[in-house]
Amino acid sequence: MDAIKNLLNRKSSKNLELPFPNRKEMDIVYQSALRAPDHAWLKPSKFLEFKGDSLNKLSKIFEDFAKDNFSDDIAFIEKAKIAPFRAPMVIVLITEVKKHPKVPPIEQMLSTAAAAQNILLALSALNYAGIWKTGKLALNDDIVRYFNLDSNHHILGYLYVGTKSGKDRNVPSIDLEDFVTRY
Ligand SMILES: Cc1cc2nc3c(=O)[nH]c(=O)nc-3n(C[C@H](O)[C@H](O)[C@H](O)COP(=O)(O)O)c2cc1C
Repeated sequence: MDAIKNLLNRKSSKNLELPFPNRKEMDIVYQSALRAPDHAWLKPSKFLEFKGDSLNKLSKIFEDFAKDNFSDDIAFIEKAKIAPFRAPMVIVLITEVKKHPKVPPIEQMLSTAAAAQNILLALSALNYAGIWKTGKLALNDDIVRYFNLDSNHHILGYLYVGTKSGKDRNVPSIDLEDFVTRY
């Protein structure tokens, strides 16, 4: 697919079904992710991939986190438990923050954010789709423990991945003058 066409046409999708990308395709997706800008080449981005039966494992992680941290919120506990089944594949976006005199944690997390966009673009180029979600299950100091990760890890969100189903969403056109100042 033409690279610029892919950039201009990529859309997130909430309606995702099988098939998900195969191993060879996912290797391309992760290689693309790991070409994101990365100050001092610290390689802080890590990915956990759940699909098929292992979605049950992710469901248990979400449920345990929700039960321990939002015990009064029965609706959220139920929502967390079923969340992984919204797509056939889920990629957990992780920044493993490394100590470096010139590269603060925020730069390392921004590198993972760039990696996430590369994943979405690579998926789109391969005719798959995804959506980045966060909510209470991400961007907090507690969730990493439920993945058995040390506290220098940060979960930036979840990419729900699969094949787009249903009608394509219309995206409003953008007036560049609202966003760009040219000097
Ligand atoms: C860091 C981040 C977190 C997001 N979290 C959510 C979320 O929890 N739930 C959601 O519906 N959309 C979330 N979104 C928005 C979607 O991923 C998506 O960008 C949005 O639906 C617009 O679609 P588009 O990417 O096709 O423009 C998030 C986006 C970003 C960048």
